[in-house]
Amino acid sequence: MLTTYAHIDLAALVHNLTQIRRYLSGNAAVLAVIKANAYGHGAEEMAKTLVRHGVSHLGVVSVTEGRALRESGITTDIIVLGPTFDEQLPDALHSRLTLVVGDRPRLTALARAAAEKGLSVPVHLKVETGMGRLGFSVDEMPVVLDSLRNHSSLRVEGLMTHLSDADGKTSDYTEQQLATFHQTLELLAARGLHPPLIHAANSAAIVRYPTSHFSLVRPGIMLYGYHTLPGSVPAPSLKPVMTLRTTIAHLRTVKPETSISYNRTFVAARPSTIAVLPIGYADGYSRRLSNRGAVLIHGQRAPIVGTICMDMTMVDVTDIPAAQVGDQVIIIGHQGRDTIGADEIAEWTATIPYEVLCGIGPRVPRIYGS
Ligand SMILES: Cc1ncc(COP(=O)(O)O)c(C=O)c1O
Repeated sequence: MLTTYAHIDLAALVHNLTQIRRYLSGNAAVLAVIKANAYGHGAEEMAKTLVRHGVSHLGVVSVTEGRALRESGITTDIIVLGPTFDEQLPDALHSRLTLVVGDRPRLTALARAAAEKGLSVPVHLKVETGMGRLGFSVDEMPVVLDSLRNHSSLRVEGLMTHLSDADGKTSDYTEQQLATFHQTLELLAARGLHPPLIHAANSAAIVRYPTSHFSLVRPGIMLYGYHTLPGSVPAPSLKPVMTLRTTIAHLRTVKPETSISYNRTFVAARPSTIAVLPIGYADGYSRRLSNRGAVLIHGQRAPIVGTICMDMTMVDVTDIPAAQVGDQVIIIGHQGRDTIGADEIAEWTATIPYEVLCGIGPRVPRIYGS
């Protein structure tokens, strides 16, 4: 019997992919971002479903993540979006991963590693336009592009950048980033370089900045059914892919003045019925939800009482008299007429839905269905 598990709705994933494609201008293709175990949903299953529905490129953050996908039999192009270390280059080449490179030492190292194996490999150059993280500065691009003449083992397949404020309140900074990116594209064109894959857009940019679509877009969070767009932007029609469920393990009735959980942060003010749930912070259910969040039982909200433990959480079901041991509990998802989304949990814990979803731990089984 599964007591705590995440149900992953593959039909919802396909629905979200379809919605994303509706925004695309021209012939832009989709690079599905499935890093961090596909934001907690299971990279292998997400990849297989997305590829079956026409996704041509998959984005991971590391050689380790890319290699795991190859070992699971995925043959689609995999782009490593995060940094790569020299020691990982043989693995990357062996697994036919396409690397994003944004610094000169790494470009030289990759060129050498490929040449030693007699390979000509695709590479995506990353330009730093305002994220303040990885990438060549626009100023150094002429030198970088000139150096490529000495690297016949590298084929510039892509040029990319990452937008830092696509879901921000104003558009000025994003427009400035896109202008800088255009400037870089012109530098390439002046040297006769026309990489087929030009990409900049994350989920928010797909909705808000059609000029950022170029030939490839990189949605992550919207694939999984969430967005972080400001209220002024019409919301996309998305379906959350993950439902996180648990089961009432124990019920206890307590007298007023009884304290619940570590450090007595909750003391019952009335005769109460407390349900014990087998999920805790070791499963990614944040301790910051202590005395703050709620779950759904019989379609009603049951408030979390006391501190969340490593493996257990207590909720007050005094106002849900039908609650019984063995009843299903919704942590993330809907029941009856109510819904608790990863975005609401993010509000309760002062974070973003990304962190809530990525945080669901490996101990929680993922069950795939539709
Ligand atoms: C380089 C890059 N591209 C695309 C994405 C996807 O972003 P989002 O989940 O906001 O669509 C990410 C996620 O952090 C990223 O790091």
